[in-house]
Amino acid sequence: MIYLDNAATSYPKNEPALRRALERYLALGASPGRGGYDRAVETEEMVEKIRRKILRFFGAPPGSHVCFSANATDALNTLIQGLAEPEIHLLSTRLEHNSVLRPLHHIKRNGLLEFDLVDFNLQGFIEPKTMLQYLRPGTRAVIINHASNVLGTVQPIAALGSLLRSRNIALCVDASQSAGLIPIHMEQENIAALAFTGHKSLGGPTGTGALIITPELELKPSRYGGTGVDSLNLYQPAPYPARLEAGTQNMFGILALEECLQTLPHQEQERRLKKELHLTKLLYEALSALPGVNVYGAHDMNRQVPLLSCTVDGMQSSDVGAVLDGDFDIAVRTGLQCAPLVHETLGTSPYGTIRFSLGPHTTQQDVEAAIRAMREIVTACRQEHTV
Ligand SMILES: Cc1ncc(COP(=O)(O)O)c(C=O)c1O
Repeated sequence: MIYLDNAATSYPKNEPALRRALERYLALGASPGRGGYDRAVETEEMVEKIRRKILRFFGAPPGSHVCFSANATDALNTLIQGLAEPEIHLLSTRLEHNSVLRPLHHIKRNGLLEFDLVDFNLQGFIEPKTMLQYLRPGTRAVIINHASNVLGTVQPIAALGSLLRSRNIALCVDASQSAGLIPIHMEQENIAALAFTGHKSLGGPTGTGALIITPELELKPSRYGGTGVDSLNLYQPAPYPARLEAGTQNMFGILALEECLQTLPHQEQERRLKKELHLTKLLYEALSALPGVNVYGAHDMNRQVPLLSCTVDGMQSSDVGAVLDGDFDIAVRTGLQCAPLVHETLGTSPYGTIRFSLGPHTTQQDVEAAIRAMREIVTACRQEHTV
């Protein structure tokens, strides 16, 4: 199989890192913060050390906290539910994934917040000056994805961060498509909260991720339960991370995150991104030259992650995906990619696009095979329509 669906989840995973994590996990035998015996205390200390490493990896400012989550969706729910108050106004965008759109819609329906969605321009970018037009006196935070999972466009986070900071509005970033691929420095980019997932560019297992929050934000807990501390208190403890973490942690996942992060210093992220964008450019140029193929995203490789979407005139995207899979053994994602409003704006709703997303293991041969396959599909489609 030629795997071009890395934006859904990375494949293959970072196997050496996961093997090291598994070995450590099997030797662990204690739950952090749950017990006064040596092993439990050591495990707790180890988890605290991993939190500090994650804060350093993302350049979080002093006083920040890592709250582990099951994935980016879980982290984003914790964020949005933690912000919800009847008088609060949040701003987000039409580029977002359902992991932001659905919590916003549910909570608004319960009368607990107001929000607006900013549209993107023809190239797939949110323009800071457009965003400013939507701000209201009660706007508390902006939630935006760093890179779109449909178009791959990378948003001008640092510019937005400084604009919002000067207005006392928190910039909250969904880094699902960028963590591990684009070096992020929360302090320098004025990011108040960052949600990430472990199973995409970090190469880790599914079921992992975290929300990083800086002192700029106060979040209410939205789930309640055991934390191993302050057990007499029948309410969720106020200090982070216990405020936002309930129940026994995914210790294998936490160890795996640490092992994966260690293999991705900034230079390695930059090297990978450069290589993957080089291949994305080859794909972009070849697909754009095919008659009847419309490519979305990837117009500017300096502001792009290695993925692009396209449609084929006269064919539904799911049918193109089925032929790529069945006849060519190429795995891509078709449809709305859980980001329905992007497609509404692009005019690709309800059938969506064919999304090719590259990863560190994608080769030039893989990309050439995808180009050949698309050429054959398009040629066959055109012949069928002219008969
Ligand atoms: C932009 C974006 N946000 C959020 C998510 C959700 O990530 P997870 O499945 O890890 O919750 C995804 C996953 O596809 C995504 O692409």
